[in-house]
Amino acid sequence: MESHLQTQLHTTNSEDETIELGKHFAERLHIGDIVAFYGGLGAGKTEFVKGICEHFHVPDIVSSPTFTIMNQYDGTDSDGDDVKLYHVDLYRINSQREFDDIGFDDCMFTNNAIKLVEWAEKANGHMPKKRYSVKFILDDKDENKRTIEITKSEQ
Ligand SMILES: Nc1ncnc2c1ncn2[C@@H]1O[C@H](COP(=O)(O)OP(=O)(O)OP(=O)(O)O)[C@@H](O)[C@H]1O
Ligand SMILES: [Mg+2]
Repeated sequence: MESHLQTQLHTTNSEDETIELGKHFAERLHIGDIVAFYGGLGAGKTEFVKGICEHFHVPDIVSSPTFTIMNQYDGTDSDGDDVKLYHVDLYRINSQREFDDIGFDDCMFTNNAIKLVEWAEKANGHMPKKRYSVKFILDDKDENKRTIEITKSEQ
């Protein structure tokens, strides 16, 4: 049975606030965790990922891996220990064959990295239930406002 242990609602009013929220959120992440991002084009998923990567001292420029599908970053945690992060963008993935080709299922069950998945709505049935879900809701009136819902689910 799926149980939502915890849902948090946040509001951000700029790209920088979303990066800051991602950075703060990352404090709770451990190697092996999955974070699934939901929300349309330009919602702010990659900005949030930038914040997570900042927390883990990733030196690379973080961008949407839309064309490469999957990026790998090497960072460190607050103890200075190595942390590997996989950043996946499923926007262009449309068939089972394509999920197989990128080795998505293997990636999800890898326990040696933190896994960040944009366009997680594409991965129905491929995503372990135990994960964080980060959902972006845009505002009708304010183009810089985002409501960001963070849920942790187990099993
Ligand atoms: N509050 C906000 N939080 C995040 N981004 C914002 C906010 N307000 C405006 N923006 C703008 O929205 C855009 C978000 O882009 P981002 O690449 O993070 O989207 P995305 O959800 O990853 O989209 P895609 O599906 O194309 O990868 C940026 O251009 C950013 O400047
Ligand atoms: Mg993106």
